[in-house]
Amino acid sequence: MEVMKTQYYAASSLDGFIATEDDSLEWLFSLANLQESSYSEFIAEVGALAMGSATYEWMVRNAAKVAAETGSPWPYTQPVWVFTCRVLSAIEGADIRFVKGDVRQVHNDMRLAAGAKNIWVVGGGDLAGQFYDAGLLDELIIQIGSVTLGKGKQLFPRRVLSPILRLSSVRQMGTAMVELRYEVGK
Ligand SMILES: NC(=O)c1ccc[n+]([C@@H]2O[C@H](COP(=O)([O-])OP(=O)(O)OC[C@H]3O[C@@H](n4cnc5c(N)ncnc54)[C@H](OP(=O)(O)O)[C@@H]3O)[C@@H](O)[C@H]2O)c1
Repeated sequence: MEVMKTQYYAASSLDGFIATEDDSLEWLFSLANLQESSYSEFIAEVGALAMGSATYEWMVRNAAKVAAETGSPWPYTQPVWVFTCRVLSAIEGADIRFVKGDVRQVHNDMRLAAGAKNIWVVGGGDLAGQFYDAGLLDELIIQIGSVTLGKGKQLFPRRVLSPILRLSSVRQMGTAMVELRYEVGK
């Protein structure tokens, strides 16, 4: 049986940014077609999600766009843990828990909720880094788009040198994207 994993699954520019400095993802939508990506296979195996507040607020601000793309303004049926030190409003009908601080306690709760499924750390990069720092990140699955942004929100603001990430698969998706999977050495 597959072992349950904690995965950082995200799309990046070639120069390592997941959003522009003002949180735009417009650069990404022209590159990627959700239906042709690994997303549907991936999300079917996810039992719990974690995201930072900027990612959550992007979803709230872009609810119409998300609905057009996925069929629902809040596309997740799984419970979602949103990290924030502020008081944010919840989305009606969404299973959202607002949390702050140490990711380890939260990860325990997520593990229990996810059961035999995986945990998806949606982003941003520093939140994925916090899971990495705690030794809780198992895999990075990164779709790299054929664009550069020059500056923006970083994919993974950490220095990972040893053990190096182990490349486990490479998948070309047309001429605008490649998906790389890396296992995190422990
Ligand atoms: N391309 C992709 O695949 C992809 C994937 C994910 C996200 N994105 C986009 O990339 C951008 C990410 O933004 P971001 O880098 O700023 O990251 P983020 O993780 O979404 O948000 C960062 C904020 O989350 C809160 N936070 C993080 N860790 C916390 C902790 N341990 N305890 C309490 N609060 C915590 C803090 O804000 P407060 O405490 O002030 O709330 C922090 O400033 C967004 O625009 C998002 O839409 C893109």
